[in-house]
Amino acid sequence: MSEIPTNWYEDFFHGVPLDLWRQAIPPEKTMAEADFLVKALRLDPGSHLLDVPCGNGRLAFELAKRGYRMTGVDISEEFIAEARSSVIRLGKDQPPATAGGSDSVEFMLGDMRRIEGEAIYDGAYCFGNSFGFLEYADMESFLNGVARSLKPGARFVIETGMAAESILPKFEAESSHQIGDIHVTIREQYLADESCVDSEYIFERHGKTESRKAKHWIYTAGEIRRMLERAGFEIRELFGSLDCRPFALGSVELFVIADRRRSTSNEELSTD
Ligand SMILES: C[S@@+](CC[C@H](N)C(=O)[O-])C[C@H]1O[C@@H](n2cnc3c(N)ncnc32)[C@H](O)[C@@H]1O
Repeated sequence: MSEIPTNWYEDFFHGVPLDLWRQAIPPEKTMAEADFLVKALRLDPGSHLLDVPCGNGRLAFELAKRGYRMTGVDISEEFIAEARSSVIRLGKDQPPATAGGSDSVEFMLGDMRRIEGEAIYDGAYCFGNSFGFLEYADMESFLNGVARSLKPGARFVIETGMAAESILPKFEAESSHQIGDIHVTIREQYLADESCVDSEYIFERHGKTESRKAKHWIYTAGEIRRMLERAGFEIRELFGSLDCRPFALGSVELFVIADRRRSTSNEELSTD
């Protein structure tokens, strides 16, 4: 049995791991993901989008520049503070009514397991390899919450590098990477009886070493499809890359495009 608690993410996302993420994603990747989202969501500028979890808002700001109204939700106080201070800077640089101005983006400190509201958003997305953080019951709460918060027929787009078809064929027990000024060693164990990966990250920067533990739940594309359908979504497409190649065994990423069904049975909109 894993010794890593299922709520590990409540105490993981501060300090060095956030610096690693800031340095790991170049602006070109954010632009390419925003291009993909605009095509996948098929929404006019002015539509209201939910970005969950939003991190420091890298995608929310890019989509706000393209004219969308953005709400970002994340559990990390540090990332939400950074995103809000970028909104304040934006407010100083641009009049509020400008596309991408400060009144088109808002950030809320919150938990994916407890998405609030009903029929608020025209679209939503979960990017940044964040889809495997939650074990099954919490994932159900997340997906039910997103479904409830979306307007009927609205689209939900997911990106993950943690689908079983991506992770298991080239599972590495140990890997090392230099990302900006951070050297990270990742030691991983696949727990077959739970279908999850326990990870220890050892960060080294300027002679200081720090370690954190995380846990990712490994779902197959078929399980993701079934979970989404149970929460009230219909799957439209599964892709294996931003340029829309088919998802296959060994694809590095999975992109799921799903629509919230128009029927609203109590079961689909349950708040648990
Ligand atoms: C790898 S980052 C990705 C952030 C963002 N989606 C992006 O692409 O830049 C993962 C994010 O998930 C957030 N997170 C983890 N567990 C969460 C939870 N239960 N509720 C809300 N946010 C969570 C972390 O705080 C972190 O910002």
